[in-house]
Amino acid sequence: MIIEPRMRGFICLTAHPDGAAASVKNQIEYIKSKGTINGAKKVLVIGASTGFGLASRITSAFGSNASTIGVFFEKPPVEGKTASPGWYNSAAFETEAHAAGLYAKSVNGDAFSKEIKQQTIDLIKADLGQVDLVIYSLASPVRQHPETGVLHRSVLKPIGGVYTNKTVDFHTGKVSEISIQPAQDGDIENTVAVMGGEDWAMWIDALKAENLLAEGAQTVAYSYIGPALTEAVYRKGTIGRAKDHLEATAFEITDSLKDIHGKAYVSVNKALVTQASSAIPVIPLYISLLYKIMKAEGVHEGTIEQIQRLYAERLYTGGEVPVDEKGRIRIDDWEMRDDIQQKVAALWEQATTENLAELGDLEGYRDDFYNLFGFGLNGVDYKAEANELVNVESIS
Ligand code: NAI
Ligand code: NA
Repeated sequence: MIIEPRMRGFICLTAHPDGAAASVKNQIEYIKSKGTINGAKKVLVIGASTGFGLASRITSAFGSNASTIGVFFEKPPVEGKTASPGWYNSAAFETEAHAAGLYAKSVNGDAFSKEIKQQTIDLIKADLGQVDLVIYSLASPVRQHPETGVLHRSVLKPIGGVYTNKTVDFHTGKVSEISIQPAQDGDIENTVAVMGGEDWAMWIDALKAENLLAEGAQTVAYSYIGPALTEAVYRKGTIGRAKDHLEATAFEITDSLKDIHGKAYVSVNKALVTQASSAIPVIPLYISLLYKIMKAEGVHEGTIEQIQRLYAERLYTGGEVPVDEKGRIRIDDWEMRDDIQQKVAALWEQATTENLAELGDLEGYRDDFYNLFGFGLNGVDYKAEANELVNVESIS
């Protein structure tokens, strides 16, 4: 069928298989162009189908010739209805990996559940024996707790007081003021339950209990800090509490891996357009201004450039992994540069509906957003019939 973007609010209901394949291929070509990384050879990526997790899987596979198992939660296609973008991304990734002679299989289901952990454990046992790197890159609005059965919902709210600031509807370009009410009873705990470190630790415990982590295995989860502008709603808000918890969990996991000389890291990444971040108020305006400045300064990166740098210049240099005073890897260093932040803050003051197209990189934001769903990629004929029923046997 002919597939076009169909928007509802901030989400796109359709995805293009050929566009997703083109996007995956572009990322693979980028990694190949940067040369070999002396990294892990057997890699589990939890949250492997989009955003930073997909970039991690591609970097491991095509930068280090790694065998990869990906875990994600995506909708397969049905006749007349497209799959979710991460499904097409994963199908394309696996096709490319197999063509390159690389092992790649995936588990599609709720990573928070015991069943999906068990299915993944069985697959590692059967096919890889052990893994030496576990990337944890889930972004989810909900988590059903595997022990209590409680359905936790994460919220993006400030703590203690109302937060009022500018925001943009990136589809229309309209800049307006938004007020977000503070967290209420349970909001902080629920957000920590979904986006904090408990599930990461559960994964590592489950893998270790089955002796599936190799000597010296490492695990990395992704975090965000961001500027003063968004602090009240992000880092000092409910999601920030979850990130605090995630970061604290890294130390607990490292302790639990002492006997195998393993280590857990949190990497603080740059703000980028992903399905997760486009749903957060205020952040899209910040990102559109940030993109403008970082592109002008020649230091803009997407998810694939970020993860390539994480592997090549942080994790696998052959030397000690550089970390900040809180033990975190920082690949948000260019975003957080003083000169960049000062310029973004100055633009923020001026931004209005009338001048944003000029001041900010609204076009770059939109392009990235459509690209997430496989639209707007060079070399794809969007007027042609596409086969929505892509299927790959290695995804179970
Ligand atoms: P994303 O939305 O692109 O990816 C989320 C992944 O999680 C997908 O593979 C999805 O299938 C998977 N997933 C969600 N719920 C699942 C479930 N129940 N079971 C199995 N898989 C599930 O998100 P993005 O942006 O790549 O986020 C990944 C991590 O990076 C998050 O921790 C996020 O906070 C962090 N991060 C994101 C930044 C950004 O600007 N986008 C900046 C810095 C950190
Ligand atoms: Na991800």
